[in-house]
Amino acid sequence: MKNRCYRLLDKFGIDNLKVVTETIPDVPPSGHVLVKTHAVSLNYRDLLMLDGKYDPRVSLGFIPCSDMAGEIIAVGENVAELEIGDMVNSCFYQWPEPSGLEEKIRFTHTLGGTMDGVLCEYKILPHWGITKYSNHLTPQEASTIPCAGVVTWHALFDDHRPLAAGDTVVMIGSGGVSSYVIQLAKAAGAITIVISRSKEKEEKLKSLGVDHVINSLEHPEWSKQVVEITGRGADRIIETGGSGTLEQSIYATRANGIIYLIGVIAEPGQLCDKTIKRMLMYGVTVKGLLVGHRSLQLKLNRCMRNNKIKPIIDKTFDFENANKAFEYLRSGNQLGKITINI
Ligand SMILES: NC(=O)c1ccc[n+]([C@@H]2O[C@H](COP(=O)([O-])OP(=O)(O)OC[C@H]3O[C@@H](n4cnc5c(N)ncnc54)[C@H](OP(=O)(O)O)[C@@H]3O)[C@@H](O)[C@H]2O)c1
Repeated sequence: MKNRCYRLLDKFGIDNLKVVTETIPDVPPSGHVLVKTHAVSLNYRDLLMLDGKYDPRVSLGFIPCSDMAGEIIAVGENVAELEIGDMVNSCFYQWPEPSGLEEKIRFTHTLGGTMDGVLCEYKILPHWGITKYSNHLTPQEASTIPCAGVVTWHALFDDHRPLAAGDTVVMIGSGGVSSYVIQLAKAAGAITIVISRSKEKEEKLKSLGVDHVINSLEHPEWSKQVVEITGRGADRIIETGGSGTLEQSIYATRANGIIYLIGVIAEPGQLCDKTIKRMLMYGVTVKGLLVGHRSLQLKLNRCMRNNKIKPIIDKTFDFENANKAFEYLRSGNQLGKITINI
C-alpha cells in the first residue's frame, strides 16, 4: 500500500524535508503491527536532528520524529493482547525490555534519527515498541507522551528518589517537557516554579496551576527568587536549559537536592569553580536522563488515565504544513506541545 512520508533529503535543514510516496507491506511481519498514524508530536530533539546537530551517526534520508499515535490496522503473527482497532502510541526506545543490548548501542535504537521515525501515514512497529493509551485522550494528546511525557515521569517518579507531596520542583521554560512537569508534579502534590523568559505566558502558566513564575529576563539570578520562595532551595530541578542555566540551577537547589540534566535549549554558559564548590559543599546531585523505557510509558499511561490528565497542546498543524510546525517549534513561542495531524 502507498505510504506518504517526510524524509530529509540532500542536506540538513528544515527546507530539505520533502514528502515522498513509498510502498509499505499491508501484512506486518511476525511480532509486528501496522499502524495508521493519526497524529505526530514534535520534540526539540527532532529539530536538532533536522539541523544535523543531534548525533553525528545520523545520516541523510531519514524519516523524522519519534512520537506518534494511531490505530492498528493489521496485526502480524505472534502478537498477543493487540488487535485491529486498538489505539496505540510509539515508544521512544525501540528495543525490548529487558534486552541484551549494550547501553552504548541502545541510543541508536530510537525513532526519528538513526532509525526511521514516524512522520508518515503508516508505520510498522514491533508489539514491544508501542503502548495502548487511555481512551480519554485524543490521538493528538496521546502522541505527546513518548518523549516529553516519559522523561518527565522518569525524572519525577522513576529514579532512585521519587517526588514527594510538598516538594518543590523547578523547571526551565514552558515547552513540552515543562508542560508535563507542571501537570504531573501537581498531581503528586508538589509546588511548581517555572523559570520563563516570557511575560506573556505568565498568566496562562498560573491558570494551569503553576504556583510561581519567575521571569529570567527580569531576574537573571533567578536562584535568589527560588531560595526566597522555598526558604531553603528547590528539592528538584528539571534542567532543560543546559550549561546556560545550570549555574542558576545549582544555586537554586537545596542541600542534598537533585538536578536532572535533560536538555540544552538555552544559550551555552560556563560553570566556574565557585559554583562547583557550592555544589560539592551542598551535596547537590546532578544526574543525566534520556527519556525512559516502555515500562515507564505504561506507568505514565496508567497515571494519566486514573487522573484524567490531558496534555497541554499549544498548536496543531496539517501534514502538508509540517515544515511550518518545525519553524514554530524553533521560535520557542509555544506553551506546551506542538502536534501534526496525519
Ligand atoms: N533527555 C531527554 O530524555 C529529553 C526529553 C525531551 C526533551 N529533552 C530536551 O529538553 C529540552 C527542552 O525540550 P522541550 O521539548 O520541552 O523543548 P521545547 O518545547 O522546544 O521548549 C521550548 C521552551 O523552552 C524555553 N526556551 C526556548 N529557548 C530558550 C532559551 N534560549 N533559553 C531559555 N529557555 C528557552 C521557552 O520557554 P519560555 O518562553 O517560557 O522561556 C520555550 O517555550 C531540549 O533541549 C530537549 O532536547 C530531553
